[in-house]
Amino acid sequence: MRNDDPSLETVSFHCRSPIYMCATCTHAEKCADLLNILRMFKLDEKPPEFDLLTNFPFLKERSFEVDPRNKLNEVSSGEWLQFTRTVFSQKFPKFFGHDLRRKHPEYKSPHLLGQLIAFFTKRQDLVLDPFAGTGTSLIAASLLGREAVGFEIERSWVDIYYHICRKHRIPRQKLVSGNCSELLHSVPPDSVDFVLIDPPNPMNPEEWAPNSAPPSKPVDAFFDFMLGALNCCHSALKEHKHMAVFTRNLYQNGQYIFLTPYFASIAAEAGFLLKGEKIWENSAEKLRPYGYPHSYVPNISHYSILIFQKQTPGEESDPDDSFKP
Ligand SMILES: C[S@@+](CC[C@H](N)C(=O)[O-])C[C@H]1O[C@@H](n2cnc3c(N)ncnc32)[C@H](O)[C@@H]1O
Repeated sequence: MRNDDPSLETVSFHCRSPIYMCATCTHAEKCADLLNILRMFKLDEKPPEFDLLTNFPFLKERSFEVDPRNKLNEVSSGEWLQFTRTVFSQKFPKFFGHDLRRKHPEYKSPHLLGQLIAFFTKRQDLVLDPFAGTGTSLIAASLLGREAVGFEIERSWVDIYYHICRKHRIPRQKLVSGNCSELLHSVPPDSVDFVLIDPPNPMNPEEWAPNSAPPSKPVDAFFDFMLGALNCCHSALKEHKHMAVFTRNLYQNGQYIFLTPYFASIAAEAGFLLKGEKIWENSAEKLRPYGYPHSYVPNISHYSILIFQKQTPGEESDPDDSFKP
């Protein structure tokens, strides 16, 4: 359906499908496929202002029956199958306050976090994000009709989140400014349906433990700190519900440091069962000529998103794991 008409290049509109978007490009305002689809549904006129109901009809009125055996989410069988791929291969568009959110060095896309939320929750479920940054997960939760609570230590990112909500008329969730090591204790046990963790950089202890003396071994101190957070998340999560953790490896003092297994190990210590991983490459990551032209130094542009499930003590494996046609 690709259309090479150059006049389409100048047409611009608000994309109406935040999560189940055109899979072939990131620039929806220039995407001929998406334009054709929108014209078919007569949705190609730019709305005067953002409005959730008129902008996200596909989220409100899905035209299929959810399998009655599906206790996990509200996606179709095809969406379910696509999500089980271990790599996110699509690129995500730059919507919903992208210009403001990109001030954050580690900002993510609402579409990326939205896919995780859409898969691991149903409408009205509660999402918890202890390292919420500019509130990307909260934005995605609102677009999907979920509830969300976030914590963020840096006040300016919280202000950006509320500014984006006002500007784009996105329903506000609760983003609390403060240290999640303390705030997580206020989350009632067994109250959360999905935890999303996008942790800070282990090598910046002044960011995640601002009032402590700089640790001599930052990576060890970081995992002690993270274990405390994961213990609280485990208690907050309902039985059998899921947690996704963004993990990224490091290159320090001439050596590649594989951090992903450490995350898996502390999550197991906190009582989680590792269920899988999804690789996401941040194609927006700037390439830096670190070792050029003498030695190989990787530009670490991918994250491994580890998926965990809250395990019932003594339980061997999830009884729902096997395929029952
Ligand atoms: C990787 S970023 C999250 C980015 C976010 N997903 C987004 O899209 O904007 C990690 C965030 O955790 C915050 N943070 C670090 N230590 C924290 C703590 N102890 N409590 C709460 N937030 C913390 C940092 O300020 C940073 O914004």
